[in-house]
Amino acid sequence: MRKLYVFDTTLRDGEQSLGITLNIQEKLEISQQLVKLGVDIIEAGFPASSPGDFDAVRQIAREIKGVTICGLTRAVPKDIDTCYEAIREAEQPRIHTGLALSPIHRQHKLGVSVEQGIQMAVEAVKYAKKYVSDVEFYSEDAFRTEPEVLARVLEGVIEAGATVVNIPDTVGYATPWEYGELIEWIMKNVRNIDRVIVSVHCHNDLGMATANSLAGIKAGAAQVEGTINGIGERAGNTALEEVIMAIYTRPARFGVTPTINYREIARTSRLVAKITGVPVPAHKAIVGDNAFSHASGIHQDGVLKERTTYEIIHPETVGIPQNRIILTARSGRHALRHRLEELGFAVDNEVLNKVYEKFLRLADQKQEIFDEDLYALMGEKNGANRTQVALKSFSVSTAGPSRAMATVELETGEGAVSDAACGNGPVDAVFKAIDRLLECAVTLEDYSLKSVSKGKDAMGDATVKVRTEDGRLFVGRGLSTDVIEASAKAYLNALAKVKSQLAAVR
Ligand code: KIV
Ligand code: ZN
Repeated sequence: MRKLYVFDTTLRDGEQSLGITLNIQEKLEISQQLVKLGVDIIEAGFPASSPGDFDAVRQIAREIKGVTICGLTRAVPKDIDTCYEAIREAEQPRIHTGLALSPIHRQHKLGVSVEQGIQMAVEAVKYAKKYVSDVEFYSEDAFRTEPEVLARVLEGVIEAGATVVNIPDTVGYATPWEYGELIEWIMKNVRNIDRVIVSVHCHNDLGMATANSLAGIKAGAAQVEGTINGIGERAGNTALEEVIMAIYTRPARFGVTPTINYREIARTSRLVAKITGVPVPAHKAIVGDNAFSHASGIHQDGVLKERTTYEIIHPETVGIPQNRIILTARSGRHALRHRLEELGFAVDNEVLNKVYEKFLRLADQKQEIFDEDLYALMGEKNGANRTQVALKSFSVSTAGPSRAMATVELETGEGAVSDAACGNGPVDAVFKAIDRLLECAVTLEDYSLKSVSKGKDAMGDATVKVRTEDGRLFVGRGLSTDVIEASAKAYLNALAKVKSQLAAVR
């Protein structure tokens, strides 16, 4: 079995494309989880794209150990200088540089000839090599590049010292057999290809990113690039969890094996969804809520008789344990700790004491506490609702079908403040009262509410996206058994992020 290197670009191709501004803390939290998952490379960002991205990549390079930290650049020296500054403190730094050589990009985007493009690529790799030994070259839009041109640039950059060559299907145009054939062709026709790792990087415009990546791996690629939950530009990137589990399920088909902690898959997916505010569709392979539930009578009957009749992956393999203990207000610390540990949380006495208090408060409002409630409680503990301003109290009265009036009291670092506002319905009134209190110029882009567990007394999970005047998008989340309170917390969480970002700039 060859080793398959897993290259995660959730924080670069994923985050950058969503227009969402994750703060450094959130990026560190995702990176830490990616290390637990066991990815080999984290592409932490594109340092030359903005000061914020530079700071985040530098902080990740400083703090996140046991993994290669990679930064993206264009094939220009100043990008490479900036990238090196950002990643230099990493244990294993990598520069990912490149450009597009397809006819469309040569002509319309870069305005360069083939010769000029190849020269820029080779010079960029040589320049990056002065800084780090590990240099990955990407030939953007490789799938639509003439194979002969691709071969020439790959030979040139390998000669110049590239250690990995990335063959992106940037616009998600390939079919699996064509993409597999391209990788096979490269393996046979690029003279010095045996000196490097070949990487696959596919986009999902035609829904074939996973299949294309697998075809490339089968044809000889030893690195796969993608994101958690497949988030990314347009229809997204390859969903890493899908590639990993396809290989886990059918190892003989691929002849490679990644070194992944499979049981961290579900948790990584949930964390990325929570922090980015991009929900995972219920039917999504591997990590969707319904991926392991059996609804029809015939299927249920089959699974009860023999699980493998309709289940090709055991949910526990990806970290979705089977629940055997019912948690209620009468459950003690021991039961709670046991369940949290089964769900993969490290629970020392201090954490347990804090979570147990919240658990009891919630259990007083609900008959049964489900795993989703526990994830939510642990999420709050980890900072999902950690804001400099907190909701102290609120009250809402409605007059007629859509008019409502809300009074909101906030606890700020400098004491309590309160104000009231009217709105079209209770949530709008609460948001308007918060606007009056915080005076933060944002527009509400998106608001959604879902229940995180089962039953009429389920907790509400509100997600709010707000856009600042300079066009940046911030995500806030709030949880409560009271949906108005969950909404207010989510809105406050988003505004607190905006305010701390503004304070950091000043
Ligand atoms: O899709 C793509 O071509 C990319 C490169 C910049 C690596 O993301
Ligand atoms: Zn991409």
